[in-house]
Amino acid sequence: MSEVLGTLEELPLDYRADMTAAGVAPLWPMMRNVLPHGAPHPVTQPGHWAFEALRPLLLRAGELTPVEKAERRVLVLSDPGRGTGAMQATASIYIGMQLLLPGETAPAHRHTASAVRIIVEGKGGFTVVDGEKLPMEEGDLVLTPAGEWHDHGHEGTEPVIWLDALDLPVLYTMEGSYAEEAPLQAQRNRPDASQVEYLSAGLAPARKLGAQTRRYPMMRFPWARTEQALREMAKWAGDAPVEMDYVNPETGGDILPIMGFTAIMLRKGEKLSPDLTSASAVFHVIRGKGRSTINGAEVSWRAKDTFSAPVFAAIDHVAEEESFLIRIHDRPMQEKLGYYEERKR
Ligand SMILES: [Fe+2]
Repeated sequence: MSEVLGTLEELPLDYRADMTAAGVAPLWPMMRNVLPHGAPHPVTQPGHWAFEALRPLLLRAGELTPVEKAERRVLVLSDPGRGTGAMQATASIYIGMQLLLPGETAPAHRHTASAVRIIVEGKGGFTVVDGEKLPMEEGDLVLTPAGEWHDHGHEGTEPVIWLDALDLPVLYTMEGSYAEEAPLQAQRNRPDASQVEYLSAGLAPARKLGAQTRRYPMMRFPWARTEQALREMAKWAGDAPVEMDYVNPETGGDILPIMGFTAIMLRKGEKLSPDLTSASAVFHVIRGKGRSTINGAEVSWRAKDTFSAPVFAAIDHVAEEESFLIRIHDRPMQEKLGYYEERKR
């Protein structure tokens, strides 16, 4: 197998012109771009977005642009490898930071992309998904899966800020991305499923023969319970990493088709050097302080910061304080496509 393939410049000009006229191009000069040897060559570069820098910019957006003019008042966290304005933090994951001011609402809508919010700051915000009112408390994970109607509201007195994670780059690349709008939804008069049907791991509402469960039975994963679960696990984990995947309580499978979510607890002083994986990742810091090296680039992070890692990145985390992170990744999609992979360091 030849390491060096022929180039376009080696070909006679008249032949190149004839190919262009016929609407074809030779594969060999560009083959290594699409089929590199051994591992992909990601465009994505490690990124770090300090909340300290984003917060004032978001609040200013609240003064400059009324929500009716923005519809969603969001600052997009762009992958440094693609440049500011890129609608992706990694090849498959879009990340935005959204501001909702007291009294504001976002109209009901649904889209083909799936979205997840991680609440960063503020009280009183809520999302209604499929008629179910989901309170948004700091660290909560709230799903708005593809095709589900959702709208946002704010009953509190302070700004509410949350992180949006969407599989939008995948849907957009597939030319499958669009949205629909509707009037605000009627709300069911009861707490959300995380407080009713799925209060306890391992227990689900009794299933009658042939009865269908909802495809997305639980839309809200309260942070308080996630942290409690991580802390219990840490007590018995010895030196093993303390990580928990968010799963569908009916199936035990991924909570969404494309994106996956893993909560991580790092004990003070703990170092974590995970295996390389084919999944790209965005880390959001719920609480704590530390630093991470991603392909040699050092990131000093603190609570509410966000940072990213390309596919097969060498990642080393060090916690300077007890820390909690959520890792957003694309493993569910890669497993469906049959190429998810982990490699020892
Ligand atoms: Fe939405």
